[in-house]
Amino acid sequence: MNSTPDAVPDLLDKVTNLAKRRGFIFPSAEIYGGFRSTYDYGPLGVNMLRNVKQAWWRSMVQMRSDIVGLDAAILGPPAIWAASGHLETFTDPLVDCKRCKERWREDKIAGVCPNCGSTEFTEPRAFNLMFKTQAGPVEGEGATAYLRPETAQGIFTNFANVLATVRKKPPFGIAQVGKSFRNEITPQNFVFRTREFEQMEMEYFVPPDDADEWYRYWIQTRLAWYIDLGIPEALLRLHEHAPEDLSHYSRGTTDVEFAYPWGWDELEGVANRGDYDLTQHAQASGVALDYFDQATNERYTPYVIEPAAGATRAMMAFLLAAYDEDIVNDEKRTVLRLDWRLAPYQVAVLPLSKKPELEDVSREVLEVLQPHFMCDYDVTQAIGRRYRRQDEVGTPYCVTVDFTTLEDRAVTVRDRDTTEQARVAIDELLASLRERTGQS
Ligand code: GAP
Repeated sequence: MNSTPDAVPDLLDKVTNLAKRRGFIFPSAEIYGGFRSTYDYGPLGVNMLRNVKQAWWRSMVQMRSDIVGLDAAILGPPAIWAASGHLETFTDPLVDCKRCKERWREDKIAGVCPNCGSTEFTEPRAFNLMFKTQAGPVEGEGATAYLRPETAQGIFTNFANVLATVRKKPPFGIAQVGKSFRNEITPQNFVFRTREFEQMEMEYFVPPDDADEWYRYWIQTRLAWYIDLGIPEALLRLHEHAPEDLSHYSRGTTDVEFAYPWGWDELEGVANRGDYDLTQHAQASGVALDYFDQATNERYTPYVIEPAAGATRAMMAFLLAAYDEDIVNDEKRTVLRLDWRLAPYQVAVLPLSKKPELEDVSREVLEVLQPHFMCDYDVTQAIGRRYRRQDEVGTPYCVTVDFTTLEDRAVTVRDRDTTEQARVAIDELLASLRERTGQS
């Protein structure tokens, strides 16, 4: 195992337990004993996952004029996957342990069965990772469909549609967020590798001569995105693939790696896909997928630079990086130091007691904040316990309404990280929270 900086002991177990206990991530179909490493996102998890995707969409689409969005179908005909190369080459080497009969991905087990320790395996066979299904009521070849194993192909097949409908010219990009499916041989490590997961991919179309420059640009831009959202630089590194390790379409790939509890591993891949995909789909479909540059009178097939991230995997990395334990008032506390943009709840409104007059003002405060922040409202338990519960799920600010509020129309704002408290007038609360979150 690689060594990684500053690991909390048993971090993966702690985060997995917290995720289950506090409603971030549940094992899927749990009342039926679970289902093969699939997961459901609970009330807090769905907020956080949406925040991860929103932060990505904001940086990729909203804040740029050179990238547009797309949401393509998950089901696709075999023709797409034949042209993309996935039918032939999207395989992993599968071996069976001769002693215990468990199946493994040969390249992940270093010759020793993780189940029984045997070193005797069957010959590796190529196992295609795509989920095959049928579209419509009639079985047979014509009905075969595949669930997409990456969102990227929907972007390439829509290249001409997008070009014809928006006024973009290379360099420009198409971004997409959505589910992808891979029949992974050994899904593992919580939501790191699952069979159903969410991707955030962007295909950036550039003149071939500029491809290398854009490749370097996107590597740095994507690395900076994770740092901006709170992952310490020491937990991130870049890893450039050796030529013999490249995917079938790639002219160069650099992974953004994260220091997971089990070692450095992939968080996101940035690839120079060359003109592979557009050329393949143009040949197979007979539809021209190129660009005519009126300035130079030249027609060319753009190269593609692809930053391909996992939303669910990124969420896991943000959780791991944010998890912390410290001592407050001589008591151990668990705190998720999540960036406010990612936290499931950004503000918790906490009336000191259930007295109706306090609840009335608290609801008033809640209504002021809800249009601007994702808020929780909690009236149960002692206030100290409630602070701890909010710390544990990463809520950056707690707003406490107490009996003095009834006289001075002010509330207490408590900061998750410093635990410092400040008295703020209700009339100034929204402005104060906007300032604390860097929005004004
Ligand atoms: N279009 C290129 C592509 O799909 P990839 O490296 O296979 O490249 C991109 O996938 C990202 O998608 C990965 O870096 C990872 O974050 C996420 N990902 C891939 N397979 C996954 C799986 N089985 N479970 C969770 N996330 C996965």
